[in-house]
Amino acid sequence: MKINSAEFVISNSDVAKCPKDKLPEYAFIGRSNVGKSSLINMLTERKSLAKISGKPGKTQLINHFIINKNWFLVDLPGYGYAKVSKSTKKVFQKFITSYFSKRSQLVSAFVLVDCRHEPQKIDLEFMQWLGENQIPFSVIFTKADKLTKTKLPIQIELYINKMLEYWEEMPTYFITSSSSKLGKDEVLNYIQEINTQIANS
Ligand code: GTP
Ligand code: MG
Repeated sequence: MKINSAEFVISNSDVAKCPKDKLPEYAFIGRSNVGKSSLINMLTERKSLAKISGKPGKTQLINHFIINKNWFLVDLPGYGYAKVSKSTKKVFQKFITSYFSKRSQLVSAFVLVDCRHEPQKIDLEFMQWLGENQIPFSVIFTKADKLTKTKLPIQIELYINKMLEYWEEMPTYFITSSSSKLGKDEVLNYIQEINTQIANS
């Protein structure tokens, strides 16, 4: 898919105030600092569409971006960031869960996980929660450039094996790097395929 336009629409903490348009929507979620905002910029080829930081906890709101004027990408705050206060964490959690439970335009979530790390409880639990709530998702491994060519497939296999302890099959997954643009076409083509199916249904 070619990205002809990518524009910021609105930020907010209230799912009721998200855009009313009935357009297909895809949301990026995962631990703080995993690379959600970077991936949005990589996919859209816009350097600073979504705000990025080396410090975890950068994205604090639900951010809607409209792509090619006919679908939304959503950047969300990370979960599981230890340094925000307990009360802030609760507020984040509340609006993240309310976003996923209430947003009827949401077609699929992308759960981002850092390919360098072993499966983390918080990610596995979040995927479990999505499953229980029948919210479709796929997995995006990020920061592939940080592993060697030999280490990368080993880490991915480890992750898949862990997932298979909980799931009958591995959800669709993508291996990406925002620095090398690995996985860009795969993710965009996947979204395009779904958008086409929706348009024809
Ligand atoms: P929050 O908004 O805090 O939840 O974080 P986020 O998940 O949006 O992460 P963000 O995109 O802000 O990136 C966090 C840090 O990781 C930044 O320093 C990025 O430059 C770096 N980063 C993100 N993706 C990649 C990648 O693919 N490769 C490398 N090497 N660094 C990356
Ligand atoms: Mg972010």
